[in-house]
Amino acid sequence: MGVWRYLKRRGLTAGGVFAQSDAPSKISVRDLGKSFDEKLVLQTIDLDIERGESFAIIGRSGEGKSVLLKCISGLLAIDSGEILIDGEEMSVERDDLRSKIGIVFQGGALFDSLNVWQNVAFRLLQRGMSKRTAHAQALRCLDAVELQASVSQLSPSELSGGMRKRVSIARTIACEPEILFFDEPTSGLDPITTDLINDLIVNCTKALGATAITITHDVGSVYKTADRAALLFGGRIVWQGSKREMSSSKDRYIQQFVQGKAQGPMTLPSARLASEMATS
Ligand SMILES: Nc1ncnc2c1ncn2[C@@H]1O[C@H](COP(=O)(O)OP(=O)(O)O)[C@@H](O)[C@H]1O
Ligand SMILES: [Mg+2]
Repeated sequence: MGVWRYLKRRGLTAGGVFAQSDAPSKISVRDLGKSFDEKLVLQTIDLDIERGESFAIIGRSGEGKSVLLKCISGLLAIDSGEILIDGEEMSVERDDLRSKIGIVFQGGALFDSLNVWQNVAFRLLQRGMSKRTAHAQALRCLDAVELQASVSQLSPSELSGGMRKRVSIARTIACEPEILFFDEPTSGLDPITTDLINDLIVNCTKALGATAITITHDVGSVYKTADRAALLFGGRIVWQGSKREMSSSKDRYIQQFVQGKAQGPMTLPSARLASEMATS
């Protein structure tokens, strides 16, 4: 498939190589806190994601998943704690660390005034690559996400939802980042397109040898794309484990999420919930 042709052309070898025990984690989050004005969104978040690992952050809408990803990417300043990328402290000033990360944003975030190839080549051109080379690289990346060259001249408004996702992924892999973030990559897509996009996430991550975090509320996507997952609720990680543990765990939070139940600890009246959390 396209992404493997791309990999071969780029001379990259497949990744999925986990960290040596003495190497720092690719991504470490320590005691992270983030509020907006009076609203506490994240508190005491701890995470370690190893090199080559594919990690999922799951949770209901509005739980702070996108905020967490933006904090880890250095797009949002944090209030407390620390974020380490390859053992170095991430901040909004660390352009060098931020450039290791490629993000596929929730809505695609394509520029409507640019056509498809100009979108894919945008950062390459910004970095000073010639128009001719950037165009050729954009076509290779479109091929990697299984879009034909004829799509390159279209404007984003002419694309279906699935094609927009593919173009966003092509734009992100064009810079060959070490870390890939996918924010709700399959929301709003039909089940077959969802499966195709999940395949692309797996293949692109492996092809680049990247470390990946995917935000999703789709349990099927976690099984398909992730090695491990963390469940965010009430600003905290209430469960984390391997995808195998997800279905077998006796934890009531992950059980409610996996089974998609209206009743459970994540839908308790807030007073009861607060007391549960305080005593857990
Ligand atoms: N820039 C911002 N300013 C103020 N509040 C924000 C901002 N970004 C996110 N929030 C709030 O943070 C909470 C978590 O948002 P978000 O991370 O987008 O949730 P989700 O888990 O659905 O991705 C929401 O209540 C949202 O309104
Ligand atoms: Mg979100």
